Amino acid sequence: MSEKKGEFAHALLAWYERNKRDLPWRRRQHDPYAVWVSEIMLQQTTVAAVIPFYDRWMARFPTVEVLAHAPLDDVLKHWAGLGYYARARNLHRGAQEVMAKYGGRVPSDPAQLLALPGIGRYTAGAILSIAFNQEAPILDANVIRVLSRVYAVTGDPKTSAATQAELWRLAEEAIPGGRAGDFNQAMMELGALVCTAAAPRCSSCPVESLCAAKALGEPTAYPQFQGVKTWLDVEDVSIVIRDGQRRVLLAQRPPEASLWGGLWELPRATRQEGETLPQCAARAACEAVGLAVGPVTPFGSIKHVVANRRITLHGFTADAPPDAAPVAVGCARFVWEPPDSLKHYALATPQVRLLEKLAQEAVQGRLDFG
Ligand code: ADE
Repeated sequence: MSEKKGEFAHALLAWYERNKRDLPWRRRQHDPYAVWVSEIMLQQTTVAAVIPFYDRWMARFPTVEVLAHAPLDDVLKHWAGLGYYARARNLHRGAQEVMAKYGGRVPSDPAQLLALPGIGRYTAGAILSIAFNQEAPILDANVIRVLSRVYAVTGDPKTSAATQAELWRLAEEAIPGGRAGDFNQAMMELGALVCTAAAPRCSSCPVESLCAAKALGEPTAYPQFQGVKTWLDVEDVSIVIRDGQRRVLLAQRPPEASLWGGLWELPRATRQEGETLPQCAARAACEAVGLAVGPVTPFGSIKHVVANRRITLHGFTADAPPDAAPVAVGCARFVWEPPDSLKHYALATPQVRLLEKLAQEAVQGRLDFG
């Protein structure tokens, strides 16, 4: 590997210097906290989607210390819309641990980093190489694609442990001395801009002449992913419950819930077999806050995809009974808020979109709301 290794690193680094994007976290890449935040946000999320969230986050939580002392609600509010909320909770707990154990300094020791919540081999490698310039490898979807093609790595990187081990070994060996941070970012950048999944721009690639998959004539045959995604179709129903003062009930999901834990929502349930949507809407109210609502009225639905779940979320409105005394049965807590105030809560994207739908229906006069 060594001659190819030298040429690969040299050509890639020269290309990176000329082509790297001016991304906000690159302006603070020697600050391990900034790298940590950006790398966690960039998991499962595109660069374009992350930038505004990153900027708002760093303005509100500029240091580990500020983040550690912030209330979880505020942290989730700044994450709302990015999805995969366990990432935000882990960052928050991680910052608290860094305060307690390391006086607020993000550790540069691999074992200490790996012991922090939400930090796995990839994130540790990114922090170590980018912020501390240690020769630690990284492997994300972009790097997997680049290395699988340049070295024509066989096997499915999602399911084969041998393929994963081979890719980690290549990622480690490929790092040129003293340039780990730039080199790892250059591989990610090449994967994002040139060596793309469906239509790689091989003629613009600085390592085309070294690429084994290209020499074999079929760059897109690598990585050798096998399976097709299996989708789970779900129908959810959320209910807008209003009281006599036209306030709306919002419920907070239990913090430990695997999906959207700690976020706020209009009481929601997943439709069961044999259940009608109105029955499901009434059950959502009962399960979240123990309310038996009167007649329910549909106002529209939205579609949302998260991980392998294709969700259709249906919305219903209902009036709370005059003597309603809701109780936090299936939620952590609940509030009554005027419609204008709902935007101040950390809501998952499907909930925001359903509320937008509700507002549209009201504006168009099909619904008395507001
Ligand atoms: N994707 C994951 N980490 C990244 C980074 N540091 N720069 C650009 N894209 C990325």
